[in-house]
Amino acid sequence: MIYTILGLQWGDEGKAKVIDYLAKDFDYVVRFQGGANAGHTVWVGNKKFVFHLIPSGILNKLVKVVIANGVVVDLDEFIKEVELISSETNIKDRIFLSNKAHIVMPYHKLMDKARENKSSKAIGTTLRGIGPAYADKADRLGIRIADLFISPEELKEKIARAFEVKEFLFRNYYNIYDYPSVNQMFDELLKIKDKIEPFVSDTERLLQKAHKDRKNILFEGAQGSLLDVDFGTYPFVTSSNTIAASAFTGSGIGASSFANIIGIAKAYITRVGEGPFPTELKDETGELLRKAGNEFGATTGRPRRCGWFDAVATRYSANINGVMEIFLTKLDVLDSLESISVCTGYKLDGGKTIDYFPSTVETIAKVKPVYTKVEGWKEKTFGIREYNKLPVNAKKYIELLEILIGKKISYISTGYERDDVIVR
Ligand code: IMP
Repeated sequence: MIYTILGLQWGDEGKAKVIDYLAKDFDYVVRFQGGANAGHTVWVGNKKFVFHLIPSGILNKLVKVVIANGVVVDLDEFIKEVELISSETNIKDRIFLSNKAHIVMPYHKLMDKARENKSSKAIGTTLRGIGPAYADKADRLGIRIADLFISPEELKEKIARAFEVKEFLFRNYYNIYDYPSVNQMFDELLKIKDKIEPFVSDTERLLQKAHKDRKNILFEGAQGSLLDVDFGTYPFVTSSNTIAASAFTGSGIGASSFANIIGIAKAYITRVGEGPFPTELKDETGELLRKAGNEFGATTGRPRRCGWFDAVATRYSANINGVMEIFLTKLDVLDSLESISVCTGYKLDGGKTIDYFPSTVETIAKVKPVYTKVEGWKEKTFGIREYNKLPVNAKKYIELLEILIGKKISYISTGYERDDVIVR
C-alpha cells in the first residue's frame, strides 16, 4: 500500500505531526522533493525534535526512512540530523539516501543569499541553497551523491565546471570574495564521504522491492502545493514540484501505484516569505492566530503571516493533487474566536467575483476575498479525540469546509501530542 501526504497551502500545515501519527502503520517513509528548507517539528511526550531533511517517521522504531532522488541534500545537515537521532533511537539499516539525489554545495547557499540580498524583488527564501541547487540540476551542472564514489579526478573536475560561472558572478557581479575554493570543497566532500556511504543506495530499487513485497510506504511531501514551481504563486514559490505527481519522478515508483493521496490543511492558513496572500490578517486576529498556533518558522524562526481559511486556494490544491481525503490540523487554535471567516471567492479589480485561483501573482495580489462568516465555538477542543465530543459550531465549521473544498475531512488534529487526532 502506498500513501502520499502533502500540504495544500503554503507549507507548515502540520505535516510532520500527521506523518508521525500515521507512521505507525507504515514500513517506509519517503521524502521525494525539497531539501533542508523544510522544517518538521515533532513532539514525543514533552520532547521536541526539529528535522529539516530526515523524514519525521524516523522516531518510530519500526519505520525505515528514505531520502529519494528528487531531494537536494545538504550533507552537513544530513550528518547533523543522523547524529541527533542516533542519540535517541537505533538507526541501523533504517536510513537510506539515494545516490541520484543532488548535493547542495556551499556555492548554492552563497548564491541563494547573494541573490536575495541584491534583488529588489526578493522571494524570501529559506537561504538553504534550494533554488540554485535545482537550477544546477536542470542545467546539468549538479553534483550527485553518486559522484562521491567516482574517481577523485572526475569529481574535482565536476566541481570546477559547476563553480566556474558562479565564481565569476561572485567576484564580478555580487562582490563576494569570501568563498571556498574548488580544492577546499573537494576536500570537504571526500571527508564526509565515509560518513555518508553506509546510507547510500539505489533507493528506487529498494522502494520497488518494498512495494512488490507489499510493504506499506508513506510519501511525505515538503512545503505546500501553493509553493509548487508550476502551480504555486510563481515566482514566489520553491524550486521543486511539491504536488503529488512529484512523488513519481522523485522516487522512481510508477505513477499507477499512487492512488491514496491525503491533503493536509490547517484550519486557517499561513505563509512565510514574500508573495500575495489574499486572506492575510494584519490585525490582532492575525496576531492571535500566530500566538495560539505558535506560527514561527521551524527552519528560519521567522514569524508566519496568518489569515482566514481560503477555500478557493485549498480547493485548487486539492484538485491539482487529486487528493482523496483531507487531514485538517490545528482546529484548537480557533477555540477562542467569537466568529470565524472562510474565503469562498475572490472579487477582481473590476468587481467580478470568481471562485477559482488566478494564474498570476499580479492578479492574486489585487483580489479582495469574499467571506462567509460563521459563529465560533469558544470552547476548548484541545486534545479532543472523538468527533461527537466537538462543540456543535466546530462540527459545523468542519462540514462547511468539506462542502467548499469538495473532499471529505477524514482526520482532524486538535493538539500537538501524536494521538490528539479525531478519525471520522
Ligand atoms: P526556498 O524553498 O528556500 O527557495 O524558498 C522559497 C519560498 O518557499 C519562500 O517563500 C519560503 O519561505 C518558502 N518555503 C520553503 N520551504 C518552506 C517550508 O518548509 N514551509 C513553508 N514555506 C517554505
